[in-house]
Amino acid sequence: MSLEKKLEASLQSRQQRQILRSLPPPTSSNPHEDDRQLIDFTSNDYLSLTSYEPLRRRFLEKLNDSRDVLGSGGSRLLVNGAGHHELETRLATFFDSPDALLFNSGFDANVGFFTCVPQEGDVVVYDEYIHASVHDGIRASRARGEDYHGSFTHNSVESLRNVLLRFIDAMPGLKSGDSNVIVAVETLYSMDGTFAPLEDIVDLVETLFPAGNGYVVVDEAHATGLYGRDGRGLVSHFGLEKRVFARLHTFGKALGSSGAVILTSPLVKAYLLNYARSLIYTTSLSAASVVAINCSFDLLEDGTSSKLAQSLEELINYTLELLRSCLEPFPRTLVSLPETLRSPPVSRIYPNTKHLLSPIIPLMTSAPRPLSARLREKGLNARPITWPTVPKGMDRVRVCLHAGNTKEHVESLVHGIVEWATQESERCRAQSDSKIGAVPLESKL
Ligand SMILES: Cc1ncc(COP(=O)(O)O)c(C=O)c1O
Repeated sequence: MSLEKKLEASLQSRQQRQILRSLPPPTSSNPHEDDRQLIDFTSNDYLSLTSYEPLRRRFLEKLNDSRDVLGSGGSRLLVNGAGHHELETRLATFFDSPDALLFNSGFDANVGFFTCVPQEGDVVVYDEYIHASVHDGIRASRARGEDYHGSFTHNSVESLRNVLLRFIDAMPGLKSGDSNVIVAVETLYSMDGTFAPLEDIVDLVETLFPAGNGYVVVDEAHATGLYGRDGRGLVSHFGLEKRVFARLHTFGKALGSSGAVILTSPLVKAYLLNYARSLIYTTSLSAASVVAINCSFDLLEDGTSSKLAQSLEELINYTLELLRSCLEPFPRTLVSLPETLRSPPVSRIYPNTKHLLSPIIPLMTSAPRPLSARLREKGLNARPITWPTVPKGMDRVRVCLHAGNTKEHVESLVHGIVEWATQESERCRAQSDSKIGAVPLESKL
């Protein structure tokens, strides 16, 4: 079979299984550009900074004043732009980290880190919902063998303990401190909107590895800009800066830009500069990107983003209250909030995360595509998420709230969901009634 035929067959198979991915219709995030713009309930632009006029103005002014605005001219190892160096220094200070290393994206950063940092005999343990980039890194690393990596149940400290104890039992080096374990977690999980019990995870790793050979690596991609003082993230919020091995912050989500930084020690930075192929063999961020990232951090430092984060938090509360009362009458399989969100956020298990509200609200449904399509007809953009992005049977429409969304937007959204769910319920009822009607009379008696 020709290559094209094989590729076509794979895509057709995906189409038949209704998991074919394709680009959504083009949209603009700039409200001035497109009057027919859909209301954004899907992007990761949580603070709506990509369309925040003061940021746009600031960026254009700074760009105008900048000596360098275009491409960086090569890999950091070839051309180390002053702007890149200064930004790293700024970020290390802002996040209270010994050092910082920029990457072109969070994906590159995770792949680079997890590919090269685990050494021969080391083990990587990760939350089952960890991002694809960590999986890709591990697959290309010295820990790729099945005996050297393993997952634990999402956010379960008990499951993490069991997995770590199994590895300790099987590998004497972990007990003696001759080999190491790297535990990879995110602070806010992007598909479920759940928060890691970070303090408990760090406590556990320190307890089980008293020799200091347990290393926690934290991905703050979705928490950056939203939590912690001035958006420093949850490691900072919990004061764990000195107890985690490395942190990832990305600039493409709440910060409205692109790129990422790994916060870690000078030793790890030097190691990454020598071995992280996704850093070494690529042209570094453009000068314009560096200017944009600096402008976003200006907003973090001057308190603007905190105000936006606060109004986002109020909107999350409002949305959850509305959804809780309006979705209650419908069967859970048709549309419902996940159990963690069905009642006000009182985390019995992890009390320290109880006050945290996530802008990511998954609407669990067995019909994610029809629900999303109906919302789209009403000008509301909330995307369906299905396997393989989420486990089978966990399909959903992922609603993402933004500082730029209004209460009216949320009311339209909830109204659209309720209208669809009411019609679906009535359709199901009519179908089952007509089936009962078709049964011969004697079998009904
Ligand atoms: C948890 C997590 N880590 C890393 C990334 C990758 O970041 P970036 O979009 O900057 O490549 C993402 C993006 O989806 C993410 O959700």
